[in-house]
Amino acid sequence: MAKNIMFYFSGTGNSLKVAKDIAEAIEDCELISMGKSYKLSDTYQRIGFVYPIYAGGMPGVVERFIKALDLSVNKDSFIFAVCTSGSGQAGGLTNISKILEGKGGKLSYGAPIRCFSNYVGLYAMGDNVDSKAKAQSEATKLVVKDIQGFAIKPPIKKISMSILHGPFIKWLSKRDKAFNVSEACNSCATCSKVCPVENIKMEQGKPVFQHHCEQCMACIQWCPKKAINVKNKTQNRGRYHHPEVKLTDMINKK
Ligand SMILES: Cc1cc2nc3c(=O)[nH]c(=O)nc-3n(C[C@H](O)[C@H](O)[C@H](O)COP(=O)(O)O)c2cc1C
Ligand code: SF4
Ligand code: SF4
Repeated sequence: MAKNIMFYFSGTGNSLKVAKDIAEAIEDCELISMGKSYKLSDTYQRIGFVYPIYAGGMPGVVERFIKALDLSVNKDSFIFAVCTSGSGQAGGLTNISKILEGKGGKLSYGAPIRCFSNYVGLYAMGDNVDSKAKAQSEATKLVVKDIQGFAIKPPIKKISMSILHGPFIKWLSKRDKAFNVSEACNSCATCSKVCPVENIKMEQGKPVFQHHCEQCMACIQWCPKKAINVKNKTQNRGRYHHPEVKLTDMINKK
């Protein structure tokens, strides 16, 4: 059994890169995707959660994952959360504090890290990939130091968009109905492999969306042919993934 365990969710690699950087620094750390449920039966020194901010709060799958996690033998562990965001963080850390408290646990440490904004379905991708990656890396170093030293820094309470967040996240899950696949598709199945919640089935060589989407943008962003689009909005937008995260890192998740 490893001494530490960290759960992550990531569409374009920002959160995965943060999780990997922390795991490397604290050593002896298992990295597990939150795309599937997990039974936590051993006791760990540190338990971490790393995820992006969606609509000012947590992605739906992350919330469901943490609510379902049995923390009974880990109530005294150092529990930390790091959320990556494009521009803000709102209630992303406050939400997790509340969920853990409801389960008898406690968030010892929470920090936001600003990263590249990846929501290609909503806006064009910026041209500041390298500077954002550098800023992410610098911010991660400070967080790593804290987590290595078991710093007790619970997140500052932020006003969450809780009234809007829940309905919005629910609405997102069917937004894949707006996705289309162009003639450029070469049937490589990358989209299906990279989807963290198994929302894409390959049928006759083409992706078919199953309407339990998290809108993580992974399929759109990692498709080598730019064949997946949201209506007619994304055809001329660039594509993004964290420059130091490879497709194999995204696919070979536990
Ligand atoms: C559906 C969706 C909603 C988002 N909402 C927010 C938001 O409310 N605030 C924000 O700062 N960034 C928002 N973002 C940007 C991501 O949180 C940010 O780019 C994050 O680092 C992506 O992490 P990943 O690469 O691990 O998927 C959103 C992205 C997506 C795809
Ligand atoms: S990743 Fe793109 S090219 Fe590959 S199967 Fe999916 S849509 Fe087609
Ligand atoms: S279908 Fe695409 S956007 Fe939706 S969860 Fe899967 S990879 Fe993410």
